[in-house]
Amino acid sequence: AQASNNEEIKVVLAQPRGFCAGVERAIDIVERALEKYGAPVYVRHEIVHNKFVVDTLRERGAIFVEEIDEIPTGAVTVFSAHGVAKKVENGALVRELDVIDATCPLVTKVHKEGRRYAEKGYDIVLIGHIGHPEVEGTLGQIPGTVHVISEPEDVAGLSVADDERVAFVTQTTLSVNDTKDVIAALKKRFPSIIGPDTRDICYATQNRQTAVIAMAKQVDLLLVVGAHNSSNSNRLREIGENFGIPSYLIEDASMFDPAWLQGVKTVGLTAGASAPETLVQETIARVRNYRTVTVETLDGVQENIHFKLPKELSDVERPKD
Ligand code: F3S
Repeated sequence: AQASNNEEIKVVLAQPRGFCAGVERAIDIVERALEKYGAPVYVRHEIVHNKFVVDTLRERGAIFVEEIDEIPTGAVTVFSAHGVAKKVENGALVRELDVIDATCPLVTKVHKEGRRYAEKGYDIVLIGHIGHPEVEGTLGQIPGTVHVISEPEDVAGLSVADDERVAFVTQTTLSVNDTKDVIAALKKRFPSIIGPDTRDICYATQNRQTAVIAMAKQVDLLLVVGAHNSSNSNRLREIGENFGIPSYLIEDASMFDPAWLQGVKTVGLTAGASAPETLVQETIARVRNYRTVTVETLDGVQENIHFKLPKELSDVERPKD
């Protein structure tokens, strides 16, 4: 039967969801840089993986590029939250760019860990997804031999100089569960391996995954608002899928398909760390076109984490929206 607007549906919001402290800081940096230096401000790579955020900043005068050589000599340039390789930093030096680094401090922490292990002469295993800019950056920040793997099955194929001198680090936005399996496989093959356990996975990734796991028991459809190239958003969708719940990653409300509501009583709704809350609210509004909606927010961790801004921007007023 065709569903009508009178049919009731519950939307359960995950807590926490959406913006993390690293994303808030990165956006804040671009806004303040525009305020202080005026347009254009160049940004290497999408500042965070979200089209809405990127488009909004572009309207205010940010220019997004993928490579340093697309930026005019001496221009104000922001590095994205994902971090960059050493060679990108060096390229920026050569071009005399005025760099403001929006790399998330929790990514920088992983770079430092990796360098510490490298200084001790360890082979380093980086658990992460090849091609993701954070992995490209971390890989390019650690001297020596770095092996990138993402699955327990990859461990058998590793070839290291000395089985006794192996360390690992991870991408910050992985699945906590899958990462445990990879680390277990590493420990089995290299019993003396050292590493941060799953602690490289950032608090925001962990909290958003925990919230979706808690929600999974009571929903029969999961919607994750987030970009297709957003690692942490994809991991949230996979959790729903692993629970056997139809789970969709949507960039915004326009991607929502009302056919998904067929037979559904409760919708779980969350958002990746780079997705603004407006997109969540627009998704609820879209569901209201098809059902009578009651909204409920689950109990969950209240995050209160803020990262310091770079010195040169800390006294700049953020422009009003
Ligand atoms: Fe940083 Fe984690 Fe957000 S690494 S940018 S706090 S998802």
